[in-house]
Amino acid sequence: MTQATHVLAIDQGTTSTRAIVFDRAARAVATAQAEFAQHYPEPGWVEHDPEDIWRDCLATARGALAKAGVGAAQIAAIGVTNQRETVVVWDRATGAPIHRAIVWQDRRTAETCLALRQDGMGELVSARTGLVLDPYFSGTKLAWILDHVPGARARAERGELAFGTIDCFLLWRLTGGQVHATDVTNAARTMLYDIHRQAWDEDLCRLLRVPMAILPQVHDNAHVFGTTAPGLFEAAIPIAGMAGDQQAALFGQACFAAGQAKSTYGTGCFMLLNTGETAFTSRSGLLTTPACRIDGRMTYALEGSIFVAGAAVKWLRDGIGVITHARDTNDMATQVPDSHGVYMVPAFAGLGAPYWDPDARGAIFGLTLGSTQAHLARAALEAVGYQTLDLARTMEADGARYPAALRVDGGMAANDWLCQFLADLLETPVERPAHLETTALGAAFFAGLATGFWSGQAELAATWACSRRFVPAMAAARRDTLVAGWRDAVARTLSRPA
Ligand code: G3P
Repeated sequence: MTQATHVLAIDQGTTSTRAIVFDRAARAVATAQAEFAQHYPEPGWVEHDPEDIWRDCLATARGALAKAGVGAAQIAAIGVTNQRETVVVWDRATGAPIHRAIVWQDRRTAETCLALRQDGMGELVSARTGLVLDPYFSGTKLAWILDHVPGARARAERGELAFGTIDCFLLWRLTGGQVHATDVTNAARTMLYDIHRQAWDEDLCRLLRVPMAILPQVHDNAHVFGTTAPGLFEAAIPIAGMAGDQQAALFGQACFAAGQAKSTYGTGCFMLLNTGETAFTSRSGLLTTPACRIDGRMTYALEGSIFVAGAAVKWLRDGIGVITHARDTNDMATQVPDSHGVYMVPAFAGLGAPYWDPDARGAIFGLTLGSTQAHLARAALEAVGYQTLDLARTMEADGARYPAALRVDGGMAANDWLCQFLADLLETPVERPAHLETTALGAAFFAGLATGFWSGQAELAATWACSRRFVPAMAAARRDTLVAGWRDAVARTLSRPA
């Protein structure tokens, strides 16, 4: 038998799919990536074609193996990580989706959520799921599909349809339709899962009108979920790790101890603070969420969710053509000493934590005849910092144990200027790891743990190394002025008073 030498991670994100082959030292030896189409059928709606996602998943997985020169027989396991909350419903008999995936950023169920909140259901939802009753999560999106695709509800009740977040859909396809399962971190984002009892919740399913027959089984993050179907790769590979991308990044950053935190800058920005075995409840709009479950032992996290970080830069490029390449923002932003009083509040998909305002929309303030493209680029980057500050201050106000340093990752964390700005605003050191692909790495870690490729968390923690530490350097008066301008801009963007 060939000795396994590597682990393959598939990171299915909001705008691209990536597959990375890791060696035993947790080094990324080969990467393949593909961007896929975004569909915006109406303002505030966002959809993906699940077939695009499956096509890219397979192509990038095969591509990464080929680049690495590693055969499937040398892969100990596959770890899958994914954009969370995004909903796919498919036919169990054919595996065909019955509707395009409704993406986490989609706001079409804002009114449903508002009506449920007005009926006083917010408390029940948050007590059981740790979430805020908001269209961000899967439950109301799933009900929308069942209500709008002819015959879907009756078919779901008869057990003919399957629901899953992207991890679950990919697992189904990877196993040739043999396994319908997800993991706790993804289940917890549906608004249908009780994170304390660790079970699907009948009351919530009734409230959101979701037939329980459509739901997948839920497992630990490090678990052998199934094996790849014949013909997909040259040898069968176990799929042994699954986790939502933000929880995978927390694990990939080796934030294994309570009090450690990371912030990931992808499409959105998500700050997760490990709170150990305690499910810490926020009074101020943060989420309580499973960080991971291994050997049946749950670790929880406190999460701040910002919907737009890199997406604002993508909008500058694709939406209004202010920049040609995402990397231009760094040069443009640092060409100017400040944003010249320009603030961008990137509420393109409403505002998440701590405001939870699905009806807010993006706004730019402070434009003058002296404003330039560089100021806009600068304002987009600064907004990422200000939003992170909002999360950090909310965590502090909630009385959570605040981390001694914040570990950052994701594409934008490669930007030195942004990391320094973060440290300055947060008044906390910001640490950038040597491996920036921590989301994929976390998925690989789970898969490698489940199959004995790695011995345990101590071995994983030893692979984490800081490549650069940014220490706060901004004068307090300047910081206070900048932050006051941000607060004013947010107040004017909210669709209702805070
Ligand atoms: O909850 C949404 C999140 O999982 C999306 O992550 O990496 O696409 O910003 P990302």
